[in-house]
Amino acid sequence: MSTSYDVIIVGGGVNGCASAYYLSKSGKKVLLLERERIAAKASSAAAGMLGAQVEVTEEGPLFEIAKESRAMFPSLQSELKEFSGIDIELVQKGMLKIARTEKEAQHLKQMLEFQQRLGEKASWLDKEAVLKREPALGGELVGAMDIPMDGHVNPEKLTHAFAKAATNLGAVVKEYVEVYSFQRDKDSVFAVETSEGTYSGASFLVAAGAWSKRLLAELALPIPAYPVKGECFSVITERPLITSTIFTDSCYIVPKSGNRLVVGATMVPHTFSEHVTIGGLSSLMSEATKALPAIATANFERSWAGIRPQTGDELPFLGGHPILKNVLIATGHYRNGILLAPITGKLVADMVDGLRIPIYMSAFSLNRLKEPLKR
Ligand code: FAD
Ligand code: GLY
Repeated sequence: MSTSYDVIIVGGGVNGCASAYYLSKSGKKVLLLERERIAAKASSAAAGMLGAQVEVTEEGPLFEIAKESRAMFPSLQSELKEFSGIDIELVQKGMLKIARTEKEAQHLKQMLEFQQRLGEKASWLDKEAVLKREPALGGELVGAMDIPMDGHVNPEKLTHAFAKAATNLGAVVKEYVEVYSFQRDKDSVFAVETSEGTYSGASFLVAAGAWSKRLLAELALPIPAYPVKGECFSVITERPLITSTIFTDSCYIVPKSGNRLVVGATMVPHTFSEHVTIGGLSSLMSEATKALPAIATANFERSWAGIRPQTGDELPFLGGHPILKNVLIATGHYRNGILLAPITGKLVADMVDGLRIPIYMSAFSLNRLKEPLKR
């Protein structure tokens, strides 16, 4: 007799794995299918910043959900350590968003205004105060927005911790199984066709990152999503150069443990290529050296690239399929999928349980799509 699952998840990135964890915690029998390895794609390429305030430049639903997700990390760290044995390496030493011109300073001061008005911690540091805090910074520098609450994690470990914790709570996680298509009738899906056979379930979650578009086309749901490649590199320094994450308009530098600095990231739209180019790397290196001159003498460690899932309006798709009532979608997290993973997983579990979801969720609904849908 074949097994039937409560929820079948397509995609073993951070959002699929977070959903597997929260669904398993709420007692669901979960099957997660990943065509490569867990965290094989964007979720291991990320820098791991929890940049609710550094990345979101205006007030609105994205800011709301980002703050809510960021606030989940401290307790999640101990919860995941307990359920999975994996430390997600949460660091809460703040970020400096650097202004190199007066125009940038004006823009950052506007961001500061709305964030302070909404009760978030943030303040303006002039050049002298920035250099007192981070003496190794150099180049053009007018001042910086000081954001104490934005931290970072190890994104690959976060994804594995969610997957392992879900498994320990009873989920079945299968790597190297590709979902090809769905078996469905007019109103619902009842099974997935995969590289190792058919699996049936009561509900389905498409969390396949930048590759969700093809799967959703199978489900008569054309989404205006496209890939945006990001390249990064890391170096090891002899001594610590910075304490806070440094974020400029052309690169960011994230201080990880072991004197490792992660530098990212390029933005190359409309490609699924994960190659690192000389052009991408050299521009990042030059921008990082302007911001932090001593990085020039650091030992190069490695470079990599990943594919961000962009939706066009920079808001994720998080909600139910407009027609197929047992299909949920969690994709399009673009530059903030690591930050948003806890709340994504939690809301997916709440939606499966039919619980009330926050008002801001209407902004992420699939109903905002303009193209007419066919049954
Ligand atoms: P993915 O991690 O891409 O996972 C999707 C998975 O689905 C993949 O493993 C894929 O193999 C699988 N899949 C696809 N099709 C199928 C199929 N048919 N069958 C089975 N499996 C399938 N975000 C932050 O919050 N902070 C950061 O600092 C940050 N930095 C970034 C830096 C870079 C260079 C990049 C590229 C991204 C960064 N991001 C960051 C964004 C973040 O990485 C993504 O938003 C997030 O990882 C997306 O996760 P996901 O689970 O939706 O997709
Ligand atoms: N959030 C950082 C990036 O996407 O590069």
